[in-house]
Amino acid sequence: MSDRQAAAPEWERLRAAVLDADGLVRALASGRRRGAPAPVVQGREMRRVEVRVVDLKAGRHLQVTAYDATQAHTTNHALGEDARAVVDALLAEPFANWHVDTTDATHQLRVTKKGAPLLHTSTRTEAVEVSRDHDRAKDRLLAEDDPVLVALGISDAQGRVKPTRQAKYRQVEEFVRLLDASLGEALEQGHVRTPTEDDPLRIVDLGCGNAYLTFAAHRFLTAPPAEGGRGLPVRMTGVDVKQQSADHNTQVAAGLGIEADFVVGSIGGARLEQAPDVVLALHACDTATDDALARAVEWQASLVLAAPCCHHDIASQLRTAEAPAPYAMLTRHGILRERFADTLTDALRASLLRREGYRVDVVEFVESAHTPRNTLLRAVRTGAHRAGAVEEYDELLAAWGVRPRLGELLGDGLSR
Ligand SMILES: C[S@@+](CC[C@H](N)C(=O)[O-])C[C@H]1O[C@@H](n2cnc3c(N)ncnc32)[C@H](O)[C@@H]1O
Repeated sequence: MSDRQAAAPEWERLRAAVLDADGLVRALASGRRRGAPAPVVQGREMRRVEVRVVDLKAGRHLQVTAYDATQAHTTNHALGEDARAVVDALLAEPFANWHVDTTDATHQLRVTKKGAPLLHTSTRTEAVEVSRDHDRAKDRLLAEDDPVLVALGISDAQGRVKPTRQAKYRQVEEFVRLLDASLGEALEQGHVRTPTEDDPLRIVDLGCGNAYLTFAAHRFLTAPPAEGGRGLPVRMTGVDVKQQSADHNTQVAAGLGIEADFVVGSIGGARLEQAPDVVLALHACDTATDDALARAVEWQASLVLAAPCCHHDIASQLRTAEAPAPYAMLTRHGILRERFADTLTDALRASLLRREGYRVDVVEFVESAHTPRNTLLRAVRTGAHRAGAVEEYDELLAAWGVRPRLGELLGDGLSR
């Protein structure tokens, strides 16, 4: 905590609440103060930090879980001097908001544009249960015995993830984790509208297949916070070219009592009753990811998360195109050409989305040890058009002599 903070009673109250090991339920720091650099925790830029008190073999500790763009990083600190030092360091970081739940109150602190702390404290009227389970950070968003996972065949009837479905479980979990973090941030920043029961958040999963992601996202986002979910009103739609997927998924939804729509059609041509707010695509094959991104742009979706699959299109173009000097080595050998094509394809996709008024980042959504198809394009529609984005894209195309599918799809309708 800085000297200026130490002199402010709001920060002092918040600090006392976070350091009250008997009373702390959980503290959350999020957002970045206007005009300030990103908060840095454990030497990395972080988006969100959660602080809890946990019982370890070595006794009661303060657990800090910091979330960067892709994963959670957890450290434990002995109560006393160590915990005080780590909390002071966290309070000194330029997070815009703190939300601290204790057994008897909720404290919400927001830092104004001028850097002043605004603290609102409300007394808790209902008792709250404190979990001191130290493994919670490793916890899954969906418990293994969640009815959704059983209905999808990821878990068996005893509620254990089947050994053959572990990779799918992890993949879907990590995707939903990123969706949750991205959605939380976009809602907070006003880039995604706040949904209501009458007008729920419309999410479409393009190339949904057996709808593992569709159902998992629905389950997590709609579950009440008391059950570890987000309690958001959400309406999911899955699109897939296979009739059999729609039949199967509709049956699963009915069995689970979930209202979701499954549309049979191509990603490029499917008709939805209303444009979605959020577009998801997990491993839509080859240029189907481009179709998904083009639809997202057409719908002006507020948030897009797409994990591409294989990248044959640009790879085959690179086989015949002449590489610019001195980069011929990048495409001479098949394996290197394939890898470079993956990178070039996603870089061009990111560039096109920027051109369309999206803030884009490219992140890893599941460790590469589990799948090489672990890149995820995340785009938030801000409406801001970055200077130089058009030239950057044109130069890259001219240099490599390729025509990306997404560029063709967006055609002349680009909103530059
Ligand atoms: C690799 S699977 C991924 C399924 C699901 N997203 C998942 O990760 O479990 C790709 C799915 O996309 C569908 N698909 C591929 N191209 C499509 C297109 N152009 N339009 C609609 N569906 C498509 C396929 O039928 C298949 O179900």
